[in-house]
Amino acid sequence: MKRIQDFKFKDYTWLNYQNYILTLKTNDQIAEVKPGNFAELKIPNAPDVFLRRPLSVLDVDHEKNTISFYVKIIGKGTEKLGKLRNGDRVNVIYPLGNSFSVNGTKKALLVGGGSGIAPFILLGRELKQKGIDITFLIGARTKEDVLLTDQFKKLGEVLVTTEDGTMGQTGLVTHHSVFTDEFLFDKIYTCGPDPMMKAIAKIAEEKGVDCEASLENMMACGFGACLCCVVETNSGNKCVCTEGPVFNTKALAW
Ligand code: FES
Repeated sequence: MKRIQDFKFKDYTWLNYQNYILTLKTNDQIAEVKPGNFAELKIPNAPDVFLRRPLSVLDVDHEKNTISFYVKIIGKGTEKLGKLRNGDRVNVIYPLGNSFSVNGTKKALLVGGGSGIAPFILLGRELKQKGIDITFLIGARTKEDVLLTDQFKKLGEVLVTTEDGTMGQTGLVTHHSVFTDEFLFDKIYTCGPDPMMKAIAKIAEEKGVDCEASLENMMACGFGACLCCVVETNSGNKCVCTEGPVFNTKALAW
């Protein structure tokens, strides 16, 4: 159930010059968060940033009452969110949106690019708990942008592509040999830039496997009021914030 809750800043883990993990803590219980859910964060100490920022939930620790977000600096809001100090409070609306479905799968391929890797820790953990075999395929421009692989390795196999060939196979994720070798997966989950997800959805269709994509459309309100996040589906336009962000790719008018 959706909550509005005040958290205190706990710490940052900087992943590279542009990406960091923000961890917040509370003395209260944290609501249940499912893989794919997101949150809307109000940026403290920033009167010139009016809108909340939508962020995927990276991880939740119910024993320590902490919640973590993967943040990529793409503007003033995410930059200011990276400059919190001890004692700062952050107001969070969560959990928002739907989640990935994890039943009926035996061997899953999780394909992420850019900040699209954010929901894969919670998703990977839930799949592993259900005994589902997991392979992560992470695509990046260069080696420095390949992030969170240590966490992913605890959950399954990790494959990498970089466009400049500095790590893993050279090229885009769609060029990885996992798609040309015998394809043993029965489900693909994907999150990242739209062109990547569209290409992955096409491959899934060719292979005859189910594919779920978590869309990263722009979101302002997060609860169906502003309509800025609309996506065209085979059954009409839908708000990504309330009816997504996760969609079966067969339902999307891509
Ligand atoms: Fe406002 Fe979806 S973000 S309607």
